[in-house]
Amino acid sequence: METNTSIQMRHLGKTDILVTPIGLGVMELAGGGGLIGRMFPVISQEDKNAIIKAALDGGINWFDTAEMYGAGVSERSLAIGLKAAGKTDRDVIIATKWQPILRTARNIPHSIEDRLHFLDGFSIANYMVHQPYSFSSPEAEMNAMADLLEAGKIRSVGVSNFNPARMRRAHAALAKRGIPLAVNQVHYNLLHRQIESNGVLDTARELGVTITAYSPVARGLLTGKYHQDPALLARLPGWRRASMARNLERTRPLINVLAEIATLHAATIAQVALNWLINFNGELVVTIPGATKVRQAEESAGAMKFLLTGEELSRIDVVSRKLQ
Ligand SMILES: NC(=O)c1ccc[n+]([C@@H]2O[C@H](COP(=O)([O-])OP(=O)(O)OC[C@H]3O[C@@H](n4cnc5c(N)ncnc54)[C@H](OP(=O)(O)O)[C@@H]3O)[C@@H](O)[C@H]2O)c1
Repeated sequence: METNTSIQMRHLGKTDILVTPIGLGVMELAGGGGLIGRMFPVISQEDKNAIIKAALDGGINWFDTAEMYGAGVSERSLAIGLKAAGKTDRDVIIATKWQPILRTARNIPHSIEDRLHFLDGFSIANYMVHQPYSFSSPEAEMNAMADLLEAGKIRSVGVSNFNPARMRRAHAALAKRGIPLAVNQVHYNLLHRQIESNGVLDTARELGVTITAYSPVARGLLTGKYHQDPALLARLPGWRRASMARNLERTRPLINVLAEIATLHAATIAQVALNWLINFNGELVVTIPGATKVRQAEESAGAMKFLLTGEELSRIDVVSRKLQ
């Protein structure tokens, strides 16, 4: 077994912002807030604080949130949790996102004030356009983002769910202002590898844009817990239960391989799935697993502390490919 206890930081694209290969996604802390908030359990602030502290104690240095995650609920919960853990703005990196749906780029300078208000003293290291759907062009959006950067309100610019053509347009618009496109945050995990064939990954590599992989453990399916105990599915809301149940038997061969490799590293299935994601493509991909429990945040952080061998990365690749 190869171990690597010192965590190597990675640059967000061509910026000077350094993040650990795994950050904590805090969409799950939006429970109760707005439309998205209704999709998550309501977690007490005390438990949110403990989840955030567990991530920090495990070595995680950054957090991913968004306006869409409860219209401020996730951002505010994060700021409270960081303060409870004794952290100040100097200690952490925060990425958040502008909600573009049914809006134009003219909303960007207004929305930023709310983001800064909810983050309560923590600054925005990376600000993303959350979706490709808005009434404005990517050029207009990137110009508004560049204005924020030049005004010192954010440190870097990113996009999310952008296809290769839109990534190129965003990259070119920012380049005219002398600003790199730092990240494209997209759906990527061992059961969902479309970005490897639709041009997103290749475009990111070519342009020097970091890929931030969201839903890295397929909302729990890649942890093996539902394979080991299908009765757990009954606790899930209907929208999650149906797709999990449908995919349980189909994905079992991959879970079996992850479990076998996990034993060799004294790791968990989730940790092997995360480790594969941050190492299969060199340093191009970082990821932001979500957590509703302290143990999950601890496990996510622990996934940065060992190294899968080249042979193990390939073996996982081959089994996972058969499921695409
Ligand atoms: N840009 C976008 O459009 C977009 C879209 C989605 C998400 N995101 C971001 O990506 C982050 C993560 O994505 P995600 O939450 O969709 O998916 P995910 O990270 O694959 O799944 C997180 C869920 O999996 C379960 N889990 C996590 N670690 C576990 C472990 N070690 N053992 C057992 N169960 C575990 C927990 O759910 P239970 O406790 O319920 O089992 C947790 O809430 C979000 O927080 C958000 O910041 C971005």
